[in-house]
Amino acid sequence: MGRLQDKVAVITGSGSGIGKDIALTYGREGAKIVVADFDKKGMDQTVAELKERGVEVLGVQVDVTKEEDISRMFEQALAAFGTVDILVNNAGTVDRMQAAANVEDEVWNRVMDINVTSVMRGIRKALPIFLEKGHGTIVNMASISGLTGGRGGLAYTASKHAVVGMTKNVASQYGPQNIRCNAIGPAFIPTPLTLNMSNADAFGTEIATRGVGLMPRPGTTQEIANIALFLASDESSYMNGVTVAADSGWSAY
Ligand SMILES: NC(=O)c1ccc[n+]([C@@H]2O[C@H](COP(=O)([O-])OP(=O)(O)OC[C@H]3O[C@@H](n4cnc5c(N)ncnc54)[C@H](O)[C@@H]3O)[C@@H](O)[C@H]2O)c1
Repeated sequence: MGRLQDKVAVITGSGSGIGKDIALTYGREGAKIVVADFDKKGMDQTVAELKERGVEVLGVQVDVTKEEDISRMFEQALAAFGTVDILVNNAGTVDRMQAAANVEDEVWNRVMDINVTSVMRGIRKALPIFLEKGHGTIVNMASISGLTGGRGGLAYTASKHAVVGMTKNVASQYGPQNIRCNAIGPAFIPTPLTLNMSNADAFGTEIATRGVGLMPRPGTTQEIANIALFLASDESSYMNGVTVAADSGWSAY
């Protein structure tokens, strides 16, 4: 019996990095998985790896910034598996470390659309399903930049603080109806997102990375997936509205 046996999990951004390892980990624990990603190649790869392991899986190509795509993601999940038990709002993007004096409207708007508005829309669609079932779990991918102020650019930091705030709000308002909403705040996990950052703001990068030497070590996608598994499973049943810092103690200093 897996720790998520027969649960249906919708995971955005699961064609790569952290989201992919969450999908593989949930699949290993008996969940049925909806792999939702913008990038078809990555999505197909995760779907193929899950199928090889005998996991029931559906790939849905979505742009999480489009409301109709979020709706389609849930419609297809319901058509394939009959229900949804877990929503992981993981898709996200970065802001090229732009400091407040240098932030571009285009970057601000893109970061807010992907990191904030999509999370609201995913939650808005999931809640009626969870309310009808009488339970449901949401795991939001925040960041250590949702818990601290100086380790990213302005837009990214603001966006992840918004995710932390939404996590608390949803937990407090829907917790009494047996719906849990928690988040994870990773520090630095080598993935395409963090390794391929180009055209970064020189001032913002220099100032935001001042404390990097105090980070004991980078994390792995599996270490974040382990937390996502705990938060989605009944093992964390008494936790609601919490953002778990996953940073090897970096922010504890
Ligand atoms: N890697 C880190 O160090 C780190 C640290 C803190 C927080 N995070 C957060 O973790 C999450 C996952 O990041 P990752 O490092 O695994 O990155 P990644 O680039 O490996 O994966 C992100 C995935 O999201 C998908 N995606 C992006 N925009 C999308 C959109 N509009 N619609 C649908 N899918 C979209 C991408 O195609 C990609 O597959 C993000 O929310 C990120 O902010 C990462």
